[in-house]
Amino acid sequence: MGSLKGRDFLKLLDYTPEEIEQLLSVAIGLKKKKHNGEPHRYLEGKQIAIIFEKDSTRTRCAFEVGAKDLGMEVTYLGPTGSQLGKKETIADTARVLASMYDGIEYRGFEQSIVQELADYSKVPVWNGLTNEFHPTQMLADVMTIKEEFGDLKGRKLVFCGDARNNVGNSLMVVCSKLGMHFTCCAPRELFPDKALVEDCVDICAETGGTITLTEDIMEGTKDADAIYTDVWVSMGEPMELWQERINLLQPYQVNMEVMNNAKPNAIFLHCLPSFHNIGTTIGKDIYDKFGLKEMEVTDEVFESSHSRVFEEAENRLHTIKAVMLETLR
Ligand code: CP
Ligand code: NVA
Repeated sequence: MGSLKGRDFLKLLDYTPEEIEQLLSVAIGLKKKKHNGEPHRYLEGKQIAIIFEKDSTRTRCAFEVGAKDLGMEVTYLGPTGSQLGKKETIADTARVLASMYDGIEYRGFEQSIVQELADYSKVPVWNGLTNEFHPTQMLADVMTIKEEFGDLKGRKLVFCGDARNNVGNSLMVVCSKLGMHFTCCAPRELFPDKALVEDCVDICAETGGTITLTEDIMEGTKDADAIYTDVWVSMGEPMELWQERINLLQPYQVNMEVMNNAKPNAIFLHCLPSFHNIGTTIGKDIYDKFGLKEMEVTDEVFESSHSRVFEEAENRLHTIKAVMLETLR
């Protein structure tokens, strides 16, 4: 295995298929150790800072628990309480944090912000989600598929929903890199960015993967190994978008008819959080306004034997640990 020491982890386009496989194999090893209760404090004495300009449960907890499992200490910087953005630029913040910490995680808005942080930081910067990409999520997603089927190459993953977003974009990239077949089912206006599709088609020419964009959900989900969806309105987008997105994406909801159209042993994945019932304030609000009890996925699919969403969520921990370990040791 090659060394990834000192590398940033900003988007999967920057990583070779072999490097992605390496991170997966380290994550699988770390998961075994965690489950067996074997200590793995390989980064004892190091310190990391994690910046969250948007909310998070999984990513924040995975970085915090993962860092502690590896023997590190963590400082959390939330949307308020630090000078970042209001009185201090990204470039200055990067130089200050890099002088005190061994690694920096950033979740927030444009990809250009995490890129700037990395440009001015002498220590590794990890992308914990931007508007454009969510690379640590993808590692957990493909790890979950690999655990299920034993392999990745040639597997068909179908994404139903807003495919121009961080999760849709990153899934298309990871599938291309790993020689998988990626299908996006969405209305044309929510297809991924053309330039990114072209880059992924070029990557597929090397890896044997394919990219298919379709408006026909029944055609698209046929023979799928994994069906994936994400919220219809993402963090940072205005609430006023809900009506328009419901109109556009309701036909792309993952329900049992869609699931049954895939292979019989197909799995359902979702990065989470998910609106599959009205048990949240936003879910309840949408129900009151639009009469919808479930959105991107039905509760039936979410709770079904196809669903691997909580295995996937756990794998966020192991994969984020692998990224920290490989870039810091
Ligand atoms: N999937 C994901 O990134 O979850 P959080 O927003 O809870 O971190
Ligand atoms: N597309 C979602 C992903 C959340 C993990 C968002 O950006 O809100």
